[in-house]
Amino acid sequence: MKLAGNEFELLKGFVEKHCGIHLEPGKEYLIETRLTDIAIEHECRSFFEFYQKALADTTGKLRNRIVDAMTTNETYFFRDDNLWTYMKEVAVPALLKKAATGPVRVWSAAASTGQEAYSMAMLFDELARAQGTPSLSGNLEILGTDISSAALFLAISGRYDSLAIRRGLSEERRRRYFQEHGSVWAISDEIKSRVKFRRFNLMDPFAPLGTFDLVLCRYVAIYFQDDFKKDIFRRIAGVLKPGCPLLLGATEILRDLNDEYEPVLHKNCTAYARKPAR
Ligand SMILES: C[S@@+](CC[C@H](N)C(=O)[O-])C[C@H]1O[C@@H](n2cnc3c(N)ncnc32)[C@H](O)[C@@H]1O
Repeated sequence: MKLAGNEFELLKGFVEKHCGIHLEPGKEYLIETRLTDIAIEHECRSFFEFYQKALADTTGKLRNRIVDAMTTNETYFFRDDNLWTYMKEVAVPALLKKAATGPVRVWSAAASTGQEAYSMAMLFDELARAQGTPSLSGNLEILGTDISSAALFLAISGRYDSLAIRRGLSEERRRRYFQEHGSVWAISDEIKSRVKFRRFNLMDPFAPLGTFDLVLCRYVAIYFQDDFKKDIFRRIAGVLKPGCPLLLGATEILRDLNDEYEPVLHKNCTAYARKPAR
């Protein structure tokens, strides 16, 4: 189905209002390719009719399907070597120290299909074992959140196909942490038990999620307008404990939040440490 008249403006506004995803002019094809099937399923003959149905839907079901379809869920295990070098050499050793005295909490704020959260759980387990304290993993709690129900369904299942399992995982990690069932690989119960997933919109207040010792907010703010980006990083500062790091995607930079964060460079990775409250 083709967009006509002001249909792009209407649907673009609808999407941005409900999840923050901003579509520049030129992205009309994204609406056409991702929403046509849903529009046809709802017996709409135009995108205007579809937009009206979405507005009239009081159940929120159609809205959720639209948002889900407009998200980009690209992810893979141990994405970005520089980040995981930082995690291995700085962040996880610091978390292990804390875990010796109590629970530590990590938030994967755009968890998609779970690879980022499970990578964290695997690395923590490896380093805990290497220092002879495997039981410290019991003090690790990772929260993975995402707005996409379809992505979360896969994350919660902890089951990956042969393509996903090949992306970013060494043979050794695959063998240690996954069981092969035909063409599907299931993550071990132990690693799975460290991670809880829940549906969450980054537009909503963060306080109910609790506080964190580390936050990963990677490759999601790239889809938002500058004001919303800033707002998210400011609100993350409200749930991140002082001195603790926020990690962004390799191509993302935190701007104009000097009051809240201090950049910390480790090799080729920049982490943003939450400044102590003043
Ligand atoms: C490209 S993936 C990033 C996955 C992972 N963080 C990584 O770096 O590999 C972006 C994710 O952000 C999620 N997302 C987009 N808008 C969101 C919002 N308003 N609230 C929560 N999650 C959102 C999408 O559903 C998608 O799964």
